[in-house]
Amino acid sequence: MIKVERAQTLHAVLSAKGDKSVTLRAVLLGALSKGQTVINNPLLAKDVFSAIECVKKLGATVAVEGGKIVVTGAKKINDGVIFNCENSGTLARLLIGALSGLGVNATVVGDSSLSKRPMERVCAPLRMRGAKIESEGGCLPVRIYPASLSDFEYEMQVDSAQVKSAIILSGVTSNTKTVIHEKNPTRDHTEKMLCDFGAFVNACDGVITVEKCSLTGCKIDVPNDPSSAAFYLGLGLLLGEVSTKRIMINPLRDGFYRALLKAGARIEYTNKVHNSYGVVADVTAYKSNISYFEIEEGEIPTLIDEIPLIAIISAFNGGCLIKGVNELRFKESDRLKGIVELLSLAGGKAQIIDNSLRVYAGLNGNYFEYQSDDHRMIMCAYILQSASKGGKLNGEECVAVSFPTFFEGLQKNKLCLIGKDLSLSLSGKMHKHILSNLSQEDFTYQMLSLTEDEVNEFLKKCAYKAINATIPYKEKLFLSAKEQSKSSYICECANYLLQNKGYTTDGEGLLLALKYRGERVINKSVCVYGAGGAGRSIALALKNAGAKVYVANRTASKAVDFCKRAGLCVYNGEECDILINATSNVTDDLFSEKSVCKAQTVIDINYNKDCALISLANKLGVKAYDGKDMLFFQAYICDCILLNKGINEELAFELYSKYKVKYEN
Ligand code: S3P
Repeated sequence: MIKVERAQTLHAVLSAKGDKSVTLRAVLLGALSKGQTVINNPLLAKDVFSAIECVKKLGATVAVEGGKIVVTGAKKINDGVIFNCENSGTLARLLIGALSGLGVNATVVGDSSLSKRPMERVCAPLRMRGAKIESEGGCLPVRIYPASLSDFEYEMQVDSAQVKSAIILSGVTSNTKTVIHEKNPTRDHTEKMLCDFGAFVNACDGVITVEKCSLTGCKIDVPNDPSSAAFYLGLGLLLGEVSTKRIMINPLRDGFYRALLKAGARIEYTNKVHNSYGVVADVTAYKSNISYFEIEEGEIPTLIDEIPLIAIISAFNGGCLIKGVNELRFKESDRLKGIVELLSLAGGKAQIIDNSLRVYAGLNGNYFEYQSDDHRMIMCAYILQSASKGGKLNGEECVAVSFPTFFEGLQKNKLCLIGKDLSLSLSGKMHKHILSNLSQEDFTYQMLSLTEDEVNEFLKKCAYKAINATIPYKEKLFLSAKEQSKSSYICECANYLLQNKGYTTDGEGLLLALKYRGERVINKSVCVYGAGGAGRSIALALKNAGAKVYVANRTASKAVDFCKRAGLCVYNGEECDILINATSNVTDDLFSEKSVCKAQTVIDINYNKDCALISLANKLGVKAYDGKDMLFFQAYICDCILLNKGINEELAFELYSKYKVKYEN
């Protein structure tokens, strides 16, 4: 069982793994080939290990080493074997096809879920080409007997890449020719991969011809799985921004992306390169308003595994209508029924109308418990719970089937910001931008708006690797730290906590911001208004950088206490070169027209709101900056502490310029 927390927001870089369909085919074709096949970036998941066990029983040799799978083709095919495909429908169906042409006796079995799935869809056409096959009431176990197969031309009865591939493989193993007519195109990985193994394949206008052939081992580079990536990207669409790298954008697999893009989702592809299986690209999904959309029956094969996820994403948005969804009943579970149940648990609504799925808009999301042994349904429930009020999941281990690192990726480097109302905070975007440029590792960054009571609880049981805090929680974060950096100790506040050590990076962030603007502080007189966490950090850093610093505060005693502790002067009406407002609202005369016009530079650490001080300075022709620069650079410093990297000013400035191009244009 796992507890799923309400995420509130999420900015993340997360890795999807090798594509399941491509990896399974590579293992199987490798076993049927002469010589060695090296599979790079394979998916190492339960379905693939089931395939490895099966091809070993067939007579192939398999080594899994250094993140690769090396398959040496079977020299002799073993007779009388029982093949256990466990949960994998693709493996079972492709294997039945291959075995039917190999002239052996064999039995194919699976786990309880697979044993309920229809197998006649492959057995029937195979029999038509001469195969001798028996199923048990249309399901597993399927028994295969030696038979002689002939050249075969077949019109697909169901839009299924598994059935198509099974028929093609029966032709390959029986050394006969196959011609298939598809009504709606389904994923073409088998056809494409056969070319890499030396077969002659022609696919044109829905007709696929595979000539008689013998296969030779080759090298396969598996791109990352668009179906797994979709779950992480779904979190981005609902909660903020998520990027994932090297995803296969095969036009027969990218229906999820296309359907949502058409309905207004912001999904971006970068770093596109070509691979045997189509374009591979880095993909980023941003929180989007997605309007109502419809998906036609012909598009279903391109997004078949993503339909439950599409339903959930659309329920939080404008809803959708997905036509021709009956195939969903025959997946690892009855996913059509599953979607309706899952959405109703969450307080949403979906209905099956004839062969269509109607998902209604306006889901808010309840807290709920969910149980499933279907990997994709569990991942959907996780996303649904994260995007609403959280919940509990039972059976979560089933993600091992296709995406064993799904939860691990989300848990690995959990970072967050705590504050009272973070609805306008830019921290998520900034940290994502900085971390994704400084590190290759996966991370998640959440912005958590918490009440005072919630913060106390949160800090007690904290499950995050590092925490940023903003007003009014910098003192609380300081008190929860077991150790302090020097400046955090003097300022008695922390805006960053890493491994129980508190840091205050606002002051250093402001110094970098001033440098970025070409402002010098040495020997300048500076008045810092506000002796709260940020003000104290700023005043101390400026003093350490050689400025003459005066501190003012609405409650004067607070400024007096801090100045004593930090060796600073209390403000007493001095004329200053730089005026800094470090409070959330300025009411003091200090920022009257008279004092502002005497200053060279004015800074207000607020951002994202109309700032009277900045307007006044602009009116008077005094240089003025808001707090965004400082926010970025304090974030950069925190991320350098996290990654154990030194501060590199030039790099920091370059990153900020890139940030502005990306997010402000
Ligand atoms: C697959 C094809 C699809 C898909 C499954 C994998 C494949 O099934 O749902 O997860 O690898 O060929 P159908 O072709 O039966 O729709």
